[in-house]
Amino acid sequence: MCDGKIGKIETWLSCVRCGEDYEIDARRYLCDCGGTLDVQRNLSKIDGRALRGLWDGRWGLKRGVESSGVWRYRELILDAPDDKIATKQEGNTRLYSAGLAGEYAGLANFLLKHEGENPTGSFKDRGMTCGMTAAVMRGAKSVACASTGNTSASMAAYAALEGLPAVIFIPSGKIAYGKLAQALAYGGITLQIDGNFDDAMALVQKVCDELGVYLLNSVNPFRIEGQKAIGFEVLQQLDWEVPDWFVIPGGNLGNNSALSKGLKELFDLGIIDKKPRIAVIQADGANPLYKMWKDNAPYEPVRDPETIATAIKIGDPVSWEKSARGLKWCDGVVEQVSEQEIMDAKAMVDKAGIGAEPASCCSVAGARKLVESGVIHPDAKVVGILTGNILKDPDAVVGYHKDALRDRSIEGRFANKPLAIEPNLEDVRRILLPILERRG
Ligand code: F0G
Repeated sequence: MCDGKIGKIETWLSCVRCGEDYEIDARRYLCDCGGTLDVQRNLSKIDGRALRGLWDGRWGLKRGVESSGVWRYRELILDAPDDKIATKQEGNTRLYSAGLAGEYAGLANFLLKHEGENPTGSFKDRGMTCGMTAAVMRGAKSVACASTGNTSASMAAYAALEGLPAVIFIPSGKIAYGKLAQALAYGGITLQIDGNFDDAMALVQKVCDELGVYLLNSVNPFRIEGQKAIGFEVLQQLDWEVPDWFVIPGGNLGNNSALSKGLKELFDLGIIDKKPRIAVIQADGANPLYKMWKDNAPYEPVRDPETIATAIKIGDPVSWEKSARGLKWCDGVVEQVSEQEIMDAKAMVDKAGIGAEPASCCSVAGARKLVESGVIHPDAKVVGILTGNILKDPDAVVGYHKDALRDRSIEGRFANKPLAIEPNLEDVRRILLPILERRG
């Protein structure tokens, strides 16, 4: 348990909209007023220096719960006994120098945190280990989620670990192939609905209320707690030196809410002494947060969202209030990027040898745009979050490189086309030598 040197931390649930409090083990996802719930902690008696020392002492552990890049920070994640923790040693992902993608963005100090290196290939595993542990602690007999593909892949894998049925609602025909493959392969009960993600999200909440299934979307506050560890781990990798900016894609808006919440906790504890700014990047066809922020307007869902970055094809994100609260705390900004900008940035992330799925590359496309508009200084220290693995969406990659996305008005500007040749040395010479000469 997380007593040890730090002592017990008092926790409860609190409504982001009206401030109503609930017991930490109340089995509910929303307040009676309809607002989302947050885990609150009384940090007033916690010694931040001691906590940071404890976490640094766990860095590099080879075995056990605390070798996970989430449970290393367990004091600020969830108070759970080791034998209830559903973990796959998630996290511990690399922080790359952005290389070519940094040049493309116009940034001299650009790092990319690759959350696609998690066990099921996306950052969702960080939220899922915590959400699934909460499910186990509450005696859940089954779990469910709506998903654009990554949450469902992750939930199915963690449910398999715990031997629980996983019920998945996905928009029919609209999720990337690699993600659908994972849901089926890990044994998820996969229900394809005739509708989009927002329809699936509305349905799964009703299903969970009616059938007593435990909901594992990021509306579940424990998912957010686990995802805070992305920020914790970046800071630990930087020896607690705070970057100027984090740049992160926004869909259902759980992940940036988690990032700001975690950073605020570190700041309140004195573990960091500066607030980094956060830039949330949305696709311009699925941009409700951007519209609200830019026009300083009331929240308005986007009907019929559309983007090649199917992971973030979301018009009515559940965590918009948490997201707005976090942006206010850190003086954050919101930017939108076009389909072409997403795929060109992706070509650069991929060509740098790093590689990520389309939604992830909003981070790079957005950073570039914010440098161009003077919001981010070219010398600023910037960390971009890459949320998912390149192999999640091979259709998008091959489509771009074969320049076959013109029906979506996307040109393969940096396409690396496959070349057809006859199986003889002459043909290889004819085609290969000029290319090698040009590159050499
Ligand atoms: N990037 C990827 C690869 C995602 O899968 C998602 C969300 C996001 C970014 C956006 O994160 O929703 O917290 O703002 N995918 C969810 C899913 C919705 O069902 O897999 P967010």
